[in-house]
Amino acid sequence: MHSNSSYQAPQSPILLMARRAAELRAAGQDIVDLTLGEPDFNAPEYVLNAARNALQERLGYTPANGLPALRSAIRRRLEIDRGLHYLDDQIAVGCGAKQIIFNAFTATLQVGDEVLVPAPYWASYPDMIRMCGACPVILPTTSAEGFRLTAEHLSSALRSAKSPRWLVLNAPGNPSGSLYSKQELEALARVLRDYPGVMILSDDIYAEIRYTEEPYVTLAVVAPDLSERILLVDGVSKAYAMTGWRVGWGCGPRELIAAITSVQSQNCTQTSTLSQLATIAALDGPREFLRERNEIYRQRRDAALEVLRACTLLEVNCPEGAFYLLPRIEGVKDDQVLALDLLKAGVATVPGSAFGMSGHLRLSFATDQANLVEGCRRLVTALGHAQ
Ligand SMILES: Cc1ncc(COP(=O)(O)O)c(C=O)c1O
Repeated sequence: MHSNSSYQAPQSPILLMARRAAELRAAGQDIVDLTLGEPDFNAPEYVLNAARNALQERLGYTPANGLPALRSAIRRRLEIDRGLHYLDDQIAVGCGAKQIIFNAFTATLQVGDEVLVPAPYWASYPDMIRMCGACPVILPTTSAEGFRLTAEHLSSALRSAKSPRWLVLNAPGNPSGSLYSKQELEALARVLRDYPGVMILSDDIYAEIRYTEEPYVTLAVVAPDLSERILLVDGVSKAYAMTGWRVGWGCGPRELIAAITSVQSQNCTQTSTLSQLATIAALDGPREFLRERNEIYRQRRDAALEVLRACTLLEVNCPEGAFYLLPRIEGVKDDQVLALDLLKAGVATVPGSAFGMSGHLRLSFATDQANLVEGCRRLVTALGHAQ
């Protein structure tokens, strides 16, 4: 990488809004906070117990790409859950999915390279890309397309790109909640076969948080012939409610994994040994809690939809996964101004422009249902007043 040291990455707008909400709260204002993409559950008890037991051990350094036992646990999960087969040296563990993505971009991007990023996107992708001196090429999708990148759109974007290096795919998407069907992924794969120099980041961090009975499909399963070009990223933050433990991983071609590991070894060496041991327990432990929590998220989603859909100024998507709603607000000129106004009305949201989707707001439903419904009511009431 030839990093672009002059690029000053802005503060995450999500964290900014969350901080503003916390400040107002501290000053005594009643604020319902729907900003953060963080489960309000804790890690399952069996994980906490494993961590308590691990404290009896000496917690030394681990290999930069993670404990061999953790890489084996990841490998086993991918075999059981997706039928995917990786060798241990095709897996690198880092400080969250975020660091794996950052390391991958750092290891591969040159100044002037392009990374195709469908919008709405997770707010960190474009800034990470710019920090590496490369250029995010935003591919806007519409609610009519279900916020999914179509093969036609990908094909025309690749035709006009000068130096495409990566395509980012994230499903369930943050903030769209959209999933891709097998057929849609097959169509994207057909286009990608004509561009062998393009790597694919498959950010599957929300794979376990879904509201459909269909099995989860990811590009590596649908197009095994592309596996040498796919970096599959996942972690324990969302499904296991282990955000602060900072464990995520990337699985893919050996050379890329080695390059990610090199970057890792020169910055923070490895992620916490304690967290790695807890993650082995998380991945090998009972799985019923995932279904139970998904049912709770689904009920929250439906309760929020009921309130929001009663407002004629809002067009609200029904997410198939993750825990965000992305309503479009009729006639809004500046969603950042709107989000600040809504703070005065007692509800904290994130402006859609942070995700490449101006005119929208992101609401996280990873909060208890009464809180969520109250937040949605405040939003609807405030919009009514704005009419
Ligand atoms: C789409 C997406 N990818 C990656 C991450 C990073 O997750 P982690 O906590 O594992 O770094 C997030 C967190 O919000 C996310 O929404």
